[in-house]
Amino acid sequence: GLDQRTVDIIKSTVPVLAEHGEAITKHFYQKMFKDHPELKNIFNQTHQKVGDQPRALADTVYAAAQHIDQLEKILPRVKEIAHKHRSLNVKPEHYPIVGEYLLIAIKDVLGENATDEIIEAWGEAYGLIADVFIQVEDGMYKETARQEGGWTGFRNFSVIKKVRESDVITSFYLKPADGEAVPSYLPGQYLTIKAEIEGDQYDHLRQYSLSDAPGKDYYRISVKREDGLEEKPAGVVSTWLHQEVEEGDVLPVSAPAGDFHLDLSTKRPLVLISGGVGFTPLLSMLNTVKENYPERDIYFIHAARNGSVHALKEEMVLGGHGKTMFIYENPNATDLQEKAYDKGGYIDLEWLKRSVPHESEFYFCGPKGFMKAIYQSLRQWEVPESQIHFEFFGPKGSLEA
Ligand code: FAD
Ligand code: HEM
Repeated sequence: GLDQRTVDIIKSTVPVLAEHGEAITKHFYQKMFKDHPELKNIFNQTHQKVGDQPRALADTVYAAAQHIDQLEKILPRVKEIAHKHRSLNVKPEHYPIVGEYLLIAIKDVLGENATDEIIEAWGEAYGLIADVFIQVEDGMYKETARQEGGWTGFRNFSVIKKVRESDVITSFYLKPADGEAVPSYLPGQYLTIKAEIEGDQYDHLRQYSLSDAPGKDYYRISVKREDGLEEKPAGVVSTWLHQEVEEGDVLPVSAPAGDFHLDLSTKRPLVLISGGVGFTPLLSMLNTVKENYPERDIYFIHAARNGSVHALKEEMVLGGHGKTMFIYENPNATDLQEKAYDKGGYIDLEWLKRSVPHESEFYFCGPKGFMKAIYQSLRQWEVPESQIHFEFFGPKGSLEA
């Protein structure tokens, strides 16, 4: 542990650093990528340009530092982050690099207030926090290696089938290139794909949820093409997958990861709510229930702009037990003619109250605005936090108003 003086220094400087979070983060990444460009193969460079991700790392270090004398308190959050780190193949040897540049950034921002004592205290604190991550991640690497058919790092998968599911969504069926079996996964988990794009200096890592039930001899992902719009460039990896990757091509993939998955220990009704391509982890759950737990009471609610971007519609229909409901924001002529949806516009609390049982387990995923609306509706309806589960298709953010 740290001595009391060090603890006091850490705790008294956390607020100052948190206040300068933006500046520190900017210095940190700029310097780190300049000296270690190889890390651009790991970090999402689009998040660096636009996202709220860059702050997440430093903010988590400060949050951890606040509990530096009781680090066991941060374990639940560490485990969440470690799933993503493990899927990105973050390794112990990366931690000192991140630590070095975090300290340099802290020093730069604090200026003459950064005494040697403060910098040393932060060096010690970072070391302790990093050790917690390294240990948790080590356990996860061992766990994935131990699984039947499991592996660590990236493994080559062949695209055995590419299926256009809607105007914007295409599925890829993946099998290990070595012909061996693959380990199972929990419905809701994701893969990390490494895109090695010709002409690009760096690799791009992206997560894609497994969209079918486990237990098949393939992995399926379903990817939305992120088109460019005026100032906004097209999404790097999704566009490449849609336009360049064909059946027979090989993609490096890391083992299934993530803590968002179906909890089968309760018998409560299941309500799965998705917006746009956010259906993927929920369709895996739906198919799992269809195949293995047909007695479970289940509601599948999917919101899409209209029928032309609605992927995998037939597969979403429950037939027999449970109920599927489609909400189209802007139905087109065909949708109107075919009565292809159950509700126009948006999901709202009054409609939810009429459509699903209150005592359910709720799972949802979709664009951030959609997730905020669902989360706030559920909280307003007084659904206990323990029955609310969600996944972000990006860095975890806040769903509070
Ligand atoms: P990027 O290049 O990363 O760009 C992201 C977005 O930012 C694009 O819309 C792009 O147009 C925009 N953009 C880029 N540059 C700028 C700029 N300078 N200014 C403004 N905007 C800009 N996706 C799926 O399709 N299916 C899934 O099942 C799925 N599952 C996921 C599961 C998890 C756990 C996570 C974290 C993500 C998941 N995603 C999924 C999202 C996926 O990982 C990618 O983020 C997504 O495909 C976009 O990646 P990209 O490389 O195409 O776009
Ligand atoms: C993501 C914290 C060390 C690479 C994240 C996230 C947090 C975080 C909070 C966002 C998770 C999410 O919600 O998706 C930390 C902390 C660290 C640490 C506190 C040190 C104690 C590292 C190291 C590396 C690394 C050493 C590797 C060089 C990444 C990458 C992402 C990530 C690549 C995904 C973000 C993106 O590419 O946009 N980390 N991290 N992290 N981390 Fe770490």
